[in-house]
Amino acid sequence: MQVSRDLQQELVLLRASFEQPAMQFPEIWLRDNCQCPKCYMQQTRSRLPHGWNYLNTAVQVQQLSWCVAQQALHIEWNDGHQSSYTYSWLKERDFSPANRARYLRDFYRPEPRHWSGKQFALIQREFQYQELLSSDEVLLEWLHHLAVYGVALIKQAPLEADVLRKLCNRVGFMRRTTYGDEWSVRAQPGASNYAYLAAPLPLHTDMPYFEYKPGVTLLHTLEQSDSPGGWNLLSDAFHVADLLRQRHPRAFQVLCETPVDWADIGNDKELSFHNIWREPVINLDANGQYKRINHSIPQRDSHFSVAAGQVRPWYEAMALFIQLANAEACTFKTTPGDVLTFDNLRMVHGRTGYDDTDRNVRHIVGAFVDWDIAFSRWRVLRHAQGYCK
Ligand code: OGA
Ligand code: ZN
Ligand code: ZN
Repeated sequence: MQVSRDLQQELVLLRASFEQPAMQFPEIWLRDNCQCPKCYMQQTRSRLPHGWNYLNTAVQVQQLSWCVAQQALHIEWNDGHQSSYTYSWLKERDFSPANRARYLRDFYRPEPRHWSGKQFALIQREFQYQELLSSDEVLLEWLHHLAVYGVALIKQAPLEADVLRKLCNRVGFMRRTTYGDEWSVRAQPGASNYAYLAAPLPLHTDMPYFEYKPGVTLLHTLEQSDSPGGWNLLSDAFHVADLLRQRHPRAFQVLCETPVDWADIGNDKELSFHNIWREPVINLDANGQYKRINHSIPQRDSHFSVAAGQVRPWYEAMALFIQLANAEACTFKTTPGDVLTFDNLRMVHGRTGYDDTDRNVRHIVGAFVDWDIAFSRWRVLRHAQGYCK
């Protein structure tokens, strides 16, 4: 192993041979991540904080060496501290662009693949309920598919009350909201929520009025309407945003920048609530990647706390977004025993209207799991199944 320094960029470079690109490590990062017992606590797998009370950002490498026997890099710092780092530890953390991309893909989150309504048949996958409960391999496949494509259908679940609880417990735990742990969607007289009517439910995300919007929605079909209605609608809103960005860039920008007041006022069982979250329809992260979509016509407040001049452009942009979302939607009708699962930060979903009579009822039970919990399980399973260290 050859070790060297790039003095100008304050990097330590490591390479097995001259033909290979060097691994890169900023010197100040190496100091911060010293693995000695004064700097790092093995038992908690975390950095010890006291070095930061008198952090010397000017600290420099005094001497570098490679120990063949230990396969480790040794550094003597100009403040007298000594550090060593094993080859395998360094390799995982190499700052070269290829390694950072690998880390993000393998450890952070898999890359989402956006799809059009026509591609639904190609990306759609079914999982068997019992296999999800009994096999960690199948559990990982489901979570992976959900992360990449945003939707997966679970088949053959019993028509029992504990199905969603069991699925959520396989992932981690259920996400409770103002509508309880689980909620029943069926036509009810005096319904407290627009979804609890037999009317068509246009494309929406669930609960945009929460800062911590539930990440994954699970819908268990217990009874399905025999009437021609009650079909599911689903559209990949990341794909819809891609189309908007290409075809109507100004409208895209308006939907990324105009905050909207999402709200839900009412009560469910004993709880009275008044939720508001103010955020644009399309939320981007620092790299311009989609983070979250917010949309629900009944749950958009009549308060719209933007300057009056921003209002018309927003309506015009939103009209385009909804036209595209409807044009890109796929439809299917679940049957009893199906559990439809989808990414609620990404998909917009809805249903067609149905006739509800005494002999023709429809009953769906819903629940949520958060992405933090789902991705954590995904990583633990991938580690256990040898996909990554
Ligand atoms: C909901 C919902 C879907 C359905 O209640 O938010 O999306 O099929 N229901 O009734
Ligand atoms: Zn140390
Ligand atoms: Zn919904």
